[in-house]
Amino acid sequence: MADTIQALIVDDEKNVTDLLKLQLEETGFAVDIAGDGAAGINKIQGKRYDLILLDLKMPRINGLEVLKFAKENQPDSQVIILTGYGDIKTAVDTIKIGAFDFITKPYNFDELIVSINNALEMRRLIMDNRFMKMQLADRKYEIVGHSGALQSVVDIALKVAPSEASVLITGPSGSGKELIAHLIHENSERSKKPFVAVNCASIPDTLIESELFGHEKGAFTDAHSLKQGLAEIADGGTLFLDEVGDISYLVQPKLLRFIETGTFRRVGGTVEMSVNARIVSATNKDIDREVEEGKFREDLLYRLNVVHVEVPSLHQRREDIPLLVEHFLTRKQRTRRAKRISQEALKLLMEYDWPGNIRELENVIERAAILATGDEITPDFIALTGKSRSPDLRRIPTRLSLAELEKIHIENVLKANGFNRTKSAKALGISLKTLYLKIKHYSIDTPIGKG
Ligand SMILES: Nc1ncnc2c1ncn2[C@@H]1O[C@H](COP(=O)(O)OP(=O)(O)OP(=O)(O)O)[C@@H](O)[C@H]1O
Ligand SMILES: [Mg+2]
Repeated sequence: MADTIQALIVDDEKNVTDLLKLQLEETGFAVDIAGDGAAGINKIQGKRYDLILLDLKMPRINGLEVLKFAKENQPDSQVIILTGYGDIKTAVDTIKIGAFDFITKPYNFDELIVSINNALEMRRLIMDNRFMKMQLADRKYEIVGHSGALQSVVDIALKVAPSEASVLITGPSGSGKELIAHLIHENSERSKKPFVAVNCASIPDTLIESELFGHEKGAFTDAHSLKQGLAEIADGGTLFLDEVGDISYLVQPKLLRFIETGTFRRVGGTVEMSVNARIVSATNKDIDREVEEGKFREDLLYRLNVVHVEVPSLHQRREDIPLLVEHFLTRKQRTRRAKRISQEALKLLMEYDWPGNIRELENVIERAAILATGDEITPDFIALTGKSRSPDLRRIPTRLSLAELEKIHIENVLKANGFNRTKSAKALGISLKTLYLKIKHYSIDTPIGKG
């Protein structure tokens, strides 16, 4: 069985090991025996143990050495010292090295098994905790969504990640640009080195240069000490220039030079510094327009935009909404029982336009989960500030006649208003009577008795 506890007894007294093995096997453990310290180390080298019961006084290699070896090589295995020489100093020493407990012989099996169970419980907690932390770290940058639009973005990002090419990520606010930047870094050979994000929009024009490239002591009035720039900190890793469309025109030539040569000078400095950082940048501005308007240097854009990744807005990939909702519900509520979303509430979310994209969805869900009193999130708890989905009129096929279009529109408005005719007539800007006539004229199916 995979989850049988694997135990090792290291002791040179055969009568102790034989009895203990028997007792542990009766408890359901799988037990190996090592007759001295050297044999113990051999065993530990060859197999993973959940539990090690260790004698201290043994010929050749003593228990203390075995304990050190075990803690270095199998830090997750729990060691209980079982010794005939129980002085306090030794006990303290072994616990310091990492033994879980210190028990003197002759042992009482009932007491021993309590200690063993505690040790195993502790081990389980440590491992659960580590697993949870790993999952959390993973989930922080997890990209959720199965839409084709998102998948092709992820595909491009993964393809370009291992290269050194500069990547420009565009897309509306809150659509996941920073997440894609992380994805590129994590999948590059630079992943063990820093990912340094600079938000070019939030740093005043006068400070951006010294933020990026650092400054020497006394370079300007407030420069009381030497400061490393973010570019230097990103050495070996990725420098993420967020909102790069907002970077001051005055700093653009310096940035361009840095990207082209990998060199820069600190503000007030004379020494040429050189740094190897991969440049990933993002903007939600129409950067081509910024170039046309003379606000952004074309040569800089050219360098930033070796590969272009365009992140689609959420309303271009509505099919991702249910998965994202699920993701935010479970992620935000790790400690409590995750709430469910009702069908009606989900429908509302599917029909909304999401001007703030995924960040807005995340906030809406977080808020709803806090406010919802029961286990289920109903439409009452969904607060949407913008407008509901408005059809993209350019997409209506031109072969439709006006009458066909009218029929489809009436059907849609009826559906959107839950077939409430009074509300639908109001939304369509016609009288209730006209609506009745049109429903009849176009033979539109409506559930009976609504409004
Ligand atoms: N596909 C996704 N799956 C899960 N979470 C996502 C996804 N896309 C975005 N998010 C989350 O939405 C939030 C906004 O994403 P991010 O900060 O990457 O957007 P952005 O495009 O950089 O926005 P802005 O233009 O405002 O800087 C973050 O909390 C991010 O984790
Ligand atoms: Mg961002």
